[in-house]
Amino acid sequence: MSNRIFPDTRLRRTRSKAFLRDLVAESHLCTDDLIQPIFIAEQSEAQIEIPSMPSIFRHNLDSLYREVEELLGLGIKAVAIFPSIDPAKKNADGSEALKDNNIVCEALKGISSRFPEVIKIADVALDPYTDHGHDGLLVGDIIDNDSTLSVLAMQALTLVNAGAEIVAPSDMMDGRVKAIREILEANNFKDTIILSYAAKYASSFYGPFRDAVGSSKTLGKGSKKTYQMNFANINEAIHEVEMDIQEGADIVMVKPGTAYLDVVHAIKAKFQIPTFVYQVSGEYSMLQLSIEKGWLDKNVMLESLMCCKRAGADAILTYAAKQIASELNT
Ligand code: PBG
Repeated sequence: MSNRIFPDTRLRRTRSKAFLRDLVAESHLCTDDLIQPIFIAEQSEAQIEIPSMPSIFRHNLDSLYREVEELLGLGIKAVAIFPSIDPAKKNADGSEALKDNNIVCEALKGISSRFPEVIKIADVALDPYTDHGHDGLLVGDIIDNDSTLSVLAMQALTLVNAGAEIVAPSDMMDGRVKAIREILEANNFKDTIILSYAAKYASSFYGPFRDAVGSSKTLGKGSKKTYQMNFANINEAIHEVEMDIQEGADIVMVKPGTAYLDVVHAIKAKFQIPTFVYQVSGEYSMLQLSIEKGWLDKNVMLESLMCCKRAGADAILTYAAKQIASELNT
């Protein structure tokens, strides 16, 4: 690079007008970059606000369809569905996850018939369905990796049969992407996308999500540190991504998001594979609560998402997707 010296160079020149700033902007955010996570539950109320997630609701199916319609109107075509399961249906092996008429499958079918253009992402993990709140099967007090794999593969197949175009394993068992890819190929689902939560850290930022799906009660003081990653590590994230790509992942994801953008940048630079970021519940709630209190300007949300793009994210799962889309449209 040339030696830029003042006053030949004045970096303020291209900052002097809004349109100049836009012209030289290096990153852009549009509705195509946004994926809306949506919580659903079997409940008579159309929607119930989640106390630890300001302006985010748990929807029943009718309300879900209204929400998806609104999102489509705003230009958001991808949704990720997360269920809050009736405690009476939870058990040690999370068998509700394999029922083809569970609430997630019903939601997938319902969205498919009403809005065929919407891309539906379904999480593969057992935690919403287990009475211990873990993502895998417990043998004694250990989360048993290998016996969990076949259950996750069956869960993925159940979700794809119900209409999911993208399955997103968020469980962090070793070998799950391979197990899922094999069962999909064996059942002739050649075009199903695996969006792997490849670098998913054991994070306290998931607290509000666990309230929303009811796994904070079941998990109690339990920790997921034997399968989710240590937040001190980045080399390990590279290994996780490398293995998931070899096992058949199409897209990889980093989670949490805004606090982990060094990881996003490193992955994108090394693999040049589609890389998504999940701005998780705690990250959303911190910002949204401050916005609603008037402590932070509302542009802080857009800023945090643009920072994900700058780090190299191709798309972002964010609870703020709907709100940001309406701002981008005006
Ligand atoms: C569970 C899952 C979690 C999230 C997505 N899928 C929580 C967890 O691992 O306990 C967190 C998302 C968020 O916090 O917004 N498999």
